[in-house]
Amino acid sequence: MRSRNVKRLLILAVLSFLLIHFHFPHCSNNAPTEGKPSPVHILILSSWRSGSSFTGQIFSQHPSVFYLMEPAWHVWVKMYQNRASVLHMAVRDLVRSVFLCDMSVFDAYMSTEKKKSDLFQWETSRALCSPPACDTFSRSDIIPAATCKIICSKYPFSKVEEACKTYSHIVIKEVRFLSLKVLYPLLTDPSLNLKIIHLVRDPRAVFRSRESARAVLAHDSNIVTGIRDSKGEKGLYSAMEVICKGQVEIYKTGRQATHSFLKDRYLLVRYEDIVRDPLARAAQMYRFAELHFTAELQKWLHNITHGKGQGTQAFQIGSRDALGVSQAWRKTLPFEKIEKVQNVCKDAMDLLGYRLLQSEEEQKNMSLDLLFAQNSTE
Ligand SMILES: *[C@@H]1O[C@H](CO)[C@@H](O)[C@H](O)[C@H]1NC(C)=O
Ligand SMILES: *[C@@H]1O[C@H](CO)[C@@H](O)[C@H](O)[C@H]1NC(C)=O
Repeated sequence: MRSRNVKRLLILAVLSFLLIHFHFPHCSNNAPTEGKPSPVHILILSSWRSGSSFTGQIFSQHPSVFYLMEPAWHVWVKMYQNRASVLHMAVRDLVRSVFLCDMSVFDAYMSTEKKKSDLFQWETSRALCSPPACDTFSRSDIIPAATCKIICSKYPFSKVEEACKTYSHIVIKEVRFLSLKVLYPLLTDPSLNLKIIHLVRDPRAVFRSRESARAVLAHDSNIVTGIRDSKGEKGLYSAMEVICKGQVEIYKTGRQATHSFLKDRYLLVRYEDIVRDPLARAAQMYRFAELHFTAELQKWLHNITHGKGQGTQAFQIGSRDALGVSQAWRKTLPFEKIEKVQNVCKDAMDLLGYRLLQSEEEQKNMSLDLLFAQNSTE
């Protein structure tokens, strides 16, 4: 009896030794938190026209970050006949592979002859504009997408994976998740160290932006709403309703953090708060992501948020008066449309701290602040 117990104990000890030393090979040095392996994986989880390109740039320009913008664009283009809820799983699988720098996942969605420049919006990734993905710039340069696009396009697709493997932080910006639950398997995956930045924006501003970008967004809106031609009035509000519902689900799930695997791994950020104080919000996001806020990045961020221009092009960010741009909808959107958006997005607005407007007078009164304080996690 006794010797049997000793034997069992011995087997257990050997097993734990094997587990500790061979199952988590990355754990031994500089593991960031809770014994999770490096690198750190950050998902900027947002929706269309919510300032996510801008926020993505805050990460992309960081010299420690490998960034990809909306890799799931390829999934949605390839499988456009399906609803978002069906595509969720394929999108999740693609995001997981990209986090692990396994770019073979794109074989399913792109041609075998693909080049680096076939990746959607590749030039917005500073990592794909500097070594080893492009030799013209240095990794610590701030690289404008337009310049990169001209100079760095002629590199093979294999450079994407090669570059990815040299970074301590992999950051992906995605607008194609309408649920957080779908991401649970990634949060519990021992090969990932995933943190989620949930970026939201005032639905009325989103609506105005979507309205003026109807043609660009038509394809995605059809998938979101399940309506074949969603460009009409009905489609616009219907898309807003689905999107706002998704934001509510993500926020409630993330903030409640009933599962321990979500603890300290979810951060809500409102675009308006970034615009009001870009440096403070960037510092907060970098802290969350375990990144150092360099002096160069601080200067650059100040610069691009205090310029002139209106930033009208669909996927471009640049030097402009960000605060003015973020409030522009109050001057141009008719009150009746505001009411309709508020009708379909009331829950999201209440939860996220956006004041509902009761009248056109309130709308035009720019000293009326529409942001309620949000208890930040910090
Ligand atoms: C700031 O903007 C000016 C004018 O666009 C530019 O010349 C300068 O290089 C920028 N500085 C940084 C740190 O980006
Ligand atoms: C505008 O809003 C501010 C802040 O709520 C308020 O004090 C002021 O009376 C309003 N002005 C008008 C003209 O309604």
